[in-house]
Amino acid sequence: MQLIFQFGTFHAMSEAELISRFPQFAGGKTIQGRFFVVETNESPAWLMQTLGGVVKILEVISSSNAPDLEFLATEIIDSCQSRNKISFGVSVINAPEFAKIGLELKRYIQEKASRPTRFVVSKTPELSSASIKLEGLLPPDGCELVVLKDSSMVIIAKTVQIQSFAEWSFRDYERPGRDAKRGMLPPKLAKMMINIATKTRDITQLHIYDPFCGSGTVLAEAALLGARRITGSDIAKFAVDDTKKGLAWAQKQFDLTAEITIFQHDATSTPRHVKPGSVDLIVAETFLGRPLKTGEQLTSTEKQDLTSLYHKALTALTPVLAPNGVIVLAIPFQTKPFELLPLAEIIADTAFSIDPILPEHETVLYMREDQRTGRQIVRLVKN
Ligand SMILES: C[S@@+](CC[C@H](N)C(=O)[O-])C[C@H]1O[C@@H](n2cnc3c(N)ncnc32)[C@H](O)[C@@H]1O
Repeated sequence: MQLIFQFGTFHAMSEAELISRFPQFAGGKTIQGRFFVVETNESPAWLMQTLGGVVKILEVISSSNAPDLEFLATEIIDSCQSRNKISFGVSVINAPEFAKIGLELKRYIQEKASRPTRFVVSKTPELSSASIKLEGLLPPDGCELVVLKDSSMVIIAKTVQIQSFAEWSFRDYERPGRDAKRGMLPPKLAKMMINIATKTRDITQLHIYDPFCGSGTVLAEAALLGARRITGSDIAKFAVDDTKKGLAWAQKQFDLTAEITIFQHDATSTPRHVKPGSVDLIVAETFLGRPLKTGEQLTSTEKQDLTSLYHKALTALTPVLAPNGVIVLAIPFQTKPFELLPLAEIIADTAFSIDPILPEHETVLYMREDQRTGRQIVRLVKN
């Protein structure tokens, strides 16, 4: 079957996650930067559960110059199996000439099926995930058709999975120990970073370490993905306490089984609590520098200090990482004026080299519009 992944806001990051975890999708076709078409037999529910950067999964039902409305009406009727009422909606992307297709489909459906029919009208061309959930437009209750134009072809797909925003918001906002003022990694970004590090390996066999664990977002996501063992450390005692609280909560809420070790430690020295060569993946958002006020920037001495901190940490962490170990880091960059930290200097004379995240990009940049500090995502492999 042909599936379309609809990426979240940070397309490059979502694509990097998808093709790191599923390299067989690397030849997929991108439409408008945010839709990614692949051929696969993997279960859409499992794919959605695994990935952090995909907001919708669609199944292609037709690809032609002109859609066959009779055929589409049958597809909609067949998708609405659990209820007598046929509920459907349509999202039209890049194809204004199909703006009225929903009303035309309603007529076809009413002619074909003697069942009450409800067409969910949207004020915008695209239905939001919240409306899809609220209006029951996922099979077997209902159907959302997506009309997507790609050059002269019109692709029609139906939505089969949407990201569970309620679940994400629950683990983002309800976790004890979270402290937005201190800066937390968005859990979805943490999950994407873990998948970028894991690649095709079976995470249930892996030991993941975050040596800058803060409130433990990476560790919580690693545990949720099923990591066998997770280890976290931070220089600050309150961060260690927050991580312990957050993980105890996550273990209870989600019935997690990972072996967990958390301790206070300065990442610039080799941790004695971690067995040499035992860590498969290090995934961390490093210390990003002091919080900045409007218009403020880090001084060149501060940037040099961060460069040196990361360099020292890489050197100190080398012994704990297994020979085929992978490190994925989020390091800061200045958004205005744009300036990256000197990555070559950070890894100089260490045991690591850069493993490009995307074929055309060595690293991926992640930033929200209003942020003065963005995050550069880097993947390193042990030489
Ligand atoms: C940006 S925060 C990490 C936030 C974390 N990803 C989260 O979502 O909560 C960086 C963390 O690095 C810690 N840190 C700073 N210098 C450190 C060092 N030398 N060794 C270990 N941890 C350090 C800080 O205490 C802080 O908790």
